[in-house]
Amino acid sequence: MKEIALITGASSGIGYEIAKLFATDKTDLLIVARDEKRLIEIKKEFEEKFKVDVFTVAADLSSNEGPKNIYQAVNSNKLTVNYLVNNAGFGDYGPFTGRSMEKYKEMIQLNIVSLTELSYHFGKEMLMSGKGRILNVASMAGLQPDPNFAVYGATKAYVISVSEAIHKEFENTGVTVTVLSPGATASNFMERADMNNAKLYASGVMTSLDVAREGYNGMMKGKLHVIPGFKNKILGFFSGIMPPGKLRLSVAAKIMAEK
Ligand SMILES: NC(=O)c1ccc[n+]([C@@H]2O[C@H](COP(=O)([O-])OP(=O)(O)OC[C@H]3O[C@@H](n4cnc5c(N)ncnc54)[C@H](OP(=O)(O)O)[C@@H]3O)[C@@H](O)[C@H]2O)c1
Repeated sequence: MKEIALITGASSGIGYEIAKLFATDKTDLLIVARDEKRLIEIKKEFEEKFKVDVFTVAADLSSNEGPKNIYQAVNSNKLTVNYLVNNAGFGDYGPFTGRSMEKYKEMIQLNIVSLTELSYHFGKEMLMSGKGRILNVASMAGLQPDPNFAVYGATKAYVISVSEAIHKEFENTGVTVTVLSPGATASNFMERADMNNAKLYASGVMTSLDVAREGYNGMMKGKLHVIPGFKNKILGFFSGIMPPGKLRLSVAAKIMAEK
């Protein structure tokens, strides 16, 4: 069995940079996105530059079938997923009823359902082998409700909540779960979310590489939360997920414990 890092949304932005960090550290990869041509370009780039094996899966993770394509590739190539990075995601900016319901459903399927399914499937295998790391990409938008970004913010609040809970459940198993919550970051995200007129991106953005690096390092250390960038860390502190959040999580774990 070949041990690999599986990264969704690796064709651009933060996911591409995370994939490159793995390749730099000589970890073989399975990269996933819809744009097959771009995935093959990345495969060539990384295989030549970093001498690693790169498997690709072109899949739409906003459809029910998406994760099945990944399981097929993992099984037929005899791969073991040691690292899972659930990074693929998108937003859609504007008043709640002013945007498309169809798009909201796709967003929920991608940002929530596929992320949960992949964490469940590979989390279970990691627990059986007693090792593994999961990195789920949330957002600062998940730290509070977001008028004009209501559904996106709610999907990311879910990612933070589910990641915190399974991080706690998996303690002392050898499997870690980390949640990365970036603020405004330069990538294709803003354009795709139709956010050109949003104030958010006018007050400075981080590079995808800087965000990826903090996420990657945090995951390797098995941290619970990673909020990249000084300004975002300050905001995160006041949101209650930073140190006080750990206490909240421990209390919740005690309340929800089995008899
Ligand atoms: N940029 C920001 O300001 C920001 C801030 C906070 C959080 N985030 C989060 O960071 C993550 C990465 O976003 P990014 O900023 O790097 O944006 P990006 O450049 O748009 O990258 C998104 C990635 O997800 C893939 N993807 C999108 N829809 C998909 C689908 N249906 N099925 C499979 N793959 C899909 C895209 O590839 P294809 O189009 O080829 O499928 C691409 O590789 C997302 O979860 C996003 O919510 C971003």
